[in-house]
Amino acid sequence: MNIAIDGPAGAGKSTVAQQVAKRLAYLYIDTGSMYRALAWAVLNNRVPIDDEAAVSGLLRESEIRLERERDSQRVFWNGQDITDQIRTPEVSQYASIVASYPSVREQMLVLQRHMAAGGNVVMDGRDIGTHVLPDADVKIFLTASTRERAERRLKELLAKGHQTDLATLEAEIAERDKRDMEREAAPLRQADDAVLVDTTGMTIDQVVERILKICERSGESIQ
Ligand code: CDP
Ligand code: CDP
Repeated sequence: MNIAIDGPAGAGKSTVAQQVAKRLAYLYIDTGSMYRALAWAVLNNRVPIDDEAAVSGLLRESEIRLERERDSQRVFWNGQDITDQIRTPEVSQYASIVASYPSVREQMLVLQRHMAAGGNVVMDGRDIGTHVLPDADVKIFLTASTRERAERRLKELLAKGHQTDLATLEAEIAERDKRDMEREAAPLRQADDAVLVDTTGMTIDQVVERILKICERSGESIQ
């Protein structure tokens, strides 16, 4: 069985997908981390962000590797572990810009399908149910109010020692969601056959249980 989890920033996709994968002993693949890795490399190599050919060329010449580490995932760019450097607000904004380039998405699609080829994966992102794994057995569209998503991100960033505030984060999230929903290439949208889960006011455990129930029901109908 393959499980696709899509949704806007801060909906809880990575946290929940990771736990669902753990409970089912499936492989977890965080596709957002791949766009983040490219964004990090663009910043690090001073590649002009508005030059699609240069950004996409950088990806073509490089290697992104995702490695499982207990219940989470580490991200490598040309062998360098950059996991702890790709969650900054700057990388987030750059990630959604590089993700709007069709020539970047084409390459990511090939990489992501290759990673999922063995089956039994939980993959999260923006276009998993609509483009990467259109035949996924379970499709979840995870969301929450913009305010709550910003509050979750604020807690996370403050705990890591970043200086920011709720209004700034809310504006950044809204800007990124807009870019993700309005781009031409594989925009963020709920697949027709996805189950909508609004996690506003829900704890992580409650969301995980809800998704496992949906998977169970779907597993029964497949057999
Ligand atoms: O991957 P995505 O951007 O959708 O969200 P995430 O990184 O998994 O979650 C963002 C933050 O919200 C994390 O710090 C989670 O621990 C937290 N979270 C939460 O407080 N309640 C939930 N129901 C889901 C996530
Ligand atoms: O964790 P959060 O939801 O904030 O972001 P992420 O999942 O790490 O993704 C970062 C950015 O990559 C998103 O804003 C999207 O622009 C892009 N992305 C995408 O276009 N398609 C995906 N399958 C995953 C991420």
